[in-house]
Amino acid sequence: MASDKLNVLLIGSGGREHALAWKLAQSPLLGELTCAPGNAGIAEVCAVVDVKADDMIGLLGLIDRGGYDLVVVGPEQPLAMGLVDVLHERDVKVFGPTEAAAMLESSKAFTKDFCDRYQIPTAAYGVFTESEAAKAHLDTMSAPYVLKADGLAAGKGVVIAEDLSTAKSELDEFFSGKFGDASAKVVIEEFMTGQEVSFFALCDGETAIPLLGAQDHKRAEDGDKGPNTGGMGAYSPAPVFTKQMMTDVMQTIIAPTLHGMKKDGAPFTGVLFAGLMITDEGPKLIEYNVRFGDPECQVLMRRLQSDLLPLLLAAVEGKLNTAKAPAWLDDPVVNVVLAAKGYPGAYKKGSIINGVEEVNERDGIVVFHAGTRRGRNCGKLKANGGRVLNVTASGETLREAVDAAYAAVEDIKWSQKQFRTDIAHRAL
Ligand code: AMP
Ligand code: GLY
Repeated sequence: MASDKLNVLLIGSGGREHALAWKLAQSPLLGELTCAPGNAGIAEVCAVVDVKADDMIGLLGLIDRGGYDLVVVGPEQPLAMGLVDVLHERDVKVFGPTEAAAMLESSKAFTKDFCDRYQIPTAAYGVFTESEAAKAHLDTMSAPYVLKADGLAAGKGVVIAEDLSTAKSELDEFFSGKFGDASAKVVIEEFMTGQEVSFFALCDGETAIPLLGAQDHKRAEDGDKGPNTGGMGAYSPAPVFTKQMMTDVMQTIIAPTLHGMKKDGAPFTGVLFAGLMITDEGPKLIEYNVRFGDPECQVLMRRLQSDLLPLLLAAVEGKLNTAKAPAWLDDPVVNVVLAAKGYPGAYKKGSIINGVEEVNERDGIVVFHAGTRRGRNCGKLKANGGRVLNVTASGETLREAVDAAYAAVEDIKWSQKQFRTDIAHRAL
């Protein structure tokens, strides 16, 4: 008789995927877990295969040979490339949205038009493919000006210009290919003020169940200064995001999105990540992502007490309406990202990192790897990317969690270590 344990393939190589692997590995329902391509931390949890997340042909070969019961897609690129659609044709169960549903992340113009049609609260906007009309639109607005490349730009496709002439020269750069094809279309938005919250909902095409809110820190330097990054740290819960607000967001933003996507023939399955601005008029959508956030996922997985695997399966199988609501640890969890000096600009790879194993033994601490690898001969841990490690800590209070995380950060010895010293400052 076939085993009722599930063999799972996880795709990705970041801190997000290490957290997902760490959580999946605790599931009593798990058979074997494989990750492509993974990193040095993930390799301590499960088997890793050297196939990159954007290598469609490599992934399909792996999946055709692998006999996986479930494929879990971490990052956005394979989703935007239509990996889920191809796996559906092959009758392989996969957690993540189709290419058409992934448009909620891969095209900002699509999402703004969608929000307009379904009355989802978001900033006023215009979409332009031509410089003269875009500049005429800017002339009607007041500063600051928000310009967005329509397509995927690795989190860098948004510019906030403080004055009109900067906005216009930025616009010229967008149209002359600053982000390649991604900025051939430009969204110009009204500027919103407030605190930002990342909110996650698990979706099966029809039903959505709320996961958690978290706060990210996108800028590279303390005090929210410096360039935008993929995210330098996160914490959850975010006190500004109350239970009532979560209920409201489910009603005014998530539910109409699920309804609209289904009506438009692109039902959304996977995790819907709403980037929210908590404005004086209530929460408004800044943008959607169609996957877990990184570094937010790491704090979510630390706080999730339920088994992750049946939740993902229920989403894939359209059974969230009967799924048990996930249980969460009340204790706050914080994640401090350690990046390589220079990130998000140029940085070096290959420097040696010491102290991670020792720190990982401590109560309440879990270190998730991002860009790491083991030296082929020495076996030492080496930096292999821009964001390199995630030091997560839980505590009875946020203060305790933050202090424990930074004590651990201090004890990780690495010449290229760069991090923000003010993660969770807003809540403290
Ligand atoms: P996005 O990639 O769309 O999440 O935008 C990146 C960042 O730009 C967001 O996290 C916000 O800090 C900022 N941003 C985007 N859109 C707006 C807006 N309409 N008003 C104010 N800030 C914005
Ligand atoms: N932390 C933001 C993102 O994953 O896009």
